[in-house]
Amino acid sequence: MLQKMDEIFKDFTEKLQTLDKQADVLSLKASVLGKNGSLAEILKSLRDATVEQRKEIGPKSNAIKQDIEKLVFNKLQEIEINEVNEKLSKNKIDFSLVDSVLDKGLQAAGLHPVSQIQREIEDIFISMGFDVLDGPHIEDEFHNFEALNIPDTHPARDMQDTFWFKDMKHLLRTHTSTIQVRGMESRKPPFKFVGPGKVFRCERTDATHEMCFHQLEGMMVGKNITVGNLIYFMKTLLKEIFKKDMEVRLRPGYFPFVEPGFELDIRWKKPGKGESKHSGWLELLPCGMVHPNVLRAGGIDPEEYNGFAFGLGLDRLVMVKYMIEDIRHLHSGDLRFNKQFKAY
Ligand code: FA5
Repeated sequence: MLQKMDEIFKDFTEKLQTLDKQADVLSLKASVLGKNGSLAEILKSLRDATVEQRKEIGPKSNAIKQDIEKLVFNKLQEIEINEVNEKLSKNKIDFSLVDSVLDKGLQAAGLHPVSQIQREIEDIFISMGFDVLDGPHIEDEFHNFEALNIPDTHPARDMQDTFWFKDMKHLLRTHTSTIQVRGMESRKPPFKFVGPGKVFRCERTDATHEMCFHQLEGMMVGKNITVGNLIYFMKTLLKEIFKKDMEVRLRPGYFPFVEPGFELDIRWKKPGKGESKHSGWLELLPCGMVHPNVLRAGGIDPEEYNGFAFGLGLDRLVMVKYMIEDIRHLHSGDLRFNKQFKAY
């Protein structure tokens, strides 16, 4: 088994060298470290190993895992740097300006915590076979409302206060559920994807509400998908992010585009002082089984296929993960706040 692990690692490093696209690197990583990856397959046969063998295999597989994570991180960085350099070589830039800024004590930057968590979640879903999709910030009524079973007379339009353009036909998307619609339009079932991004709502800000925040949409469509599948993916996601079982509660929730719909809340406690106004249950992850009208609007026959969808609030997830008491810190631009987060 130890020899097989060495072979897997050798094969991984050889393949990694040949790659020059970040998506390929992530798929290669998933093919080894993913749930059904080659390393996981080997570990399944650990049941039949002796205690002595287990003592060797456990640490070895952890070491390989860590080495692979490190190699993947370096490779992703290398590809990003190459891409930036290539872009720079095509544009004329005055580098003397950068030198003069560096002289004044410029410091290395890190990724914003929302970007970090977004990448982390994308990796988790890629390893479970999901695609990652994008969509426009400026949307039309069809993709933001109508295709999601929210006609213009529907009171649910008031649930998400909207920034409209003057033509009253276009708007800043109020949720990433628009990516559901675009995803259905561009592919045939079965499929599963996530779609992260910024969303905009004309609402009063407070400790847990921003006007511009981030969501990550997820959708899985196929045959005979059940609420059990939905719960499995939601639990796996939270476990991977928090590295422990989190206290969650599932309660009925209403969204015109899912039936049945649920709200998944997470137990959230600010450091110190016990329960306060903003501690307790935090609404984090609404989800449900896709409404047949939504499938129809996306060109999918609801008699043949069904599926689930969810819309995760990324800023709120960052708040829970790093125990941040006020969402407004996240986009305040205050460097004292930003500097606390290192990229990886
Ligand atoms: C929606 O936006 C639905 N599109 C989500 C969905 C997708 C439901 C698919 C079912 C199926 P909601 O308005 O509750 O739902 O927002 C989703 C999440 O975004 C919330 O749970 C919360 O975590 C976050 N959120 C909502 N409003 C704000 C806000 N103003 N500031 C920060 N986060 C917010």
